[in-house]
Amino acid sequence: MKVGVVGSGDVAKVLAGGFLKHGHQVKIGSRSPAKLAEWSAQNSGSTTGTFADAAQFGELVVLAVKGKVAAEALTLAGMKNLAGKTVIDACNPIEDAPPTNGVLRFFTDVNESLMERLQHQFGDAHFVKAFNSVGAPRMINPQFVEGKPTMFICGNNEVAKKQVAQINEQFGWDTADMGGAEAARAIEPLCMLWCIPGFTRNQWTHAFKLLTK
Ligand SMILES: NC(=O)c1ccc[n+]([C@@H]2O[C@H](COP(=O)([O-])OP(=O)(O)OC[C@H]3O[C@@H](n4cnc5c(N)ncnc54)[C@H](OP(=O)(O)O)[C@@H]3O)[C@@H](O)[C@H]2O)c1
Repeated sequence: MKVGVVGSGDVAKVLAGGFLKHGHQVKIGSRSPAKLAEWSAQNSGSTTGTFADAAQFGELVVLAVKGKVAAEALTLAGMKNLAGKTVIDACNPIEDAPPTNGVLRFFTDVNESLMERLQHQFGDAHFVKAFNSVGAPRMINPQFVEGKPTMFICGNNEVAKKQVAQINEQFGWDTADMGGAEAARAIEPLCMLWCIPGFTRNQWTHAFKLLTK
């Protein structure tokens, strides 16, 4: 599959690397593509470009940018380049403010989510929330003695969610589909929960698992 990654930070690079590892083609994008040249040279099968180049290239698109500017990044990526495509949304609506006792501050509230805003604004894309509540170093085939961790996902398009569930399987995760885009109101704050042990005890190596029996 051709995957376009909108973003140049740790999450973008780790997910891009995961797609390459599993045999996909990747174009990773930035407003300043030159800064990705070194990464791309070390990751064969990848190419670089602008956000629009990456989105146009991808049969599937990954969005991994600062939450506050996610809509700006998607505008640069171009609505026409996103239309009809699955967009994996790894972003969190984190405020530019320090955490309080380890608890991050969001710019959304409990009855809305960043992904719903994006789905509303870019209505022709099929957003699927995923990879937002685990640290970048453990996104691809993480090893835990307790077994596979759970990737909570949601989104309005069933085909897109099935596609993401297949990717989760390749990347070593069980998928828990929480339903439509509104479920991002619950999934995005898992990032807050995930970060508390990090900020308060410097523990950053965990992942969530849903026990079902
Ligand atoms: N770090 C983690 O372990 C982790 C884990 C799970 C989820 N997340 C979430 O994943 C997302 C990416 O996190 P990250 O740490 O990899 O990177 P980040 O530092 O949050 O974001 C970097 C990206 O944001 C883009 N950006 C910044 N300002 C912009 C603007 N004004 N307009 C358009 N784009 C702009 C940058 O674009 P340029 O390339 O053009 O500079 C870059 O691609 C975040 O929403 C974060 O909450 C992070």
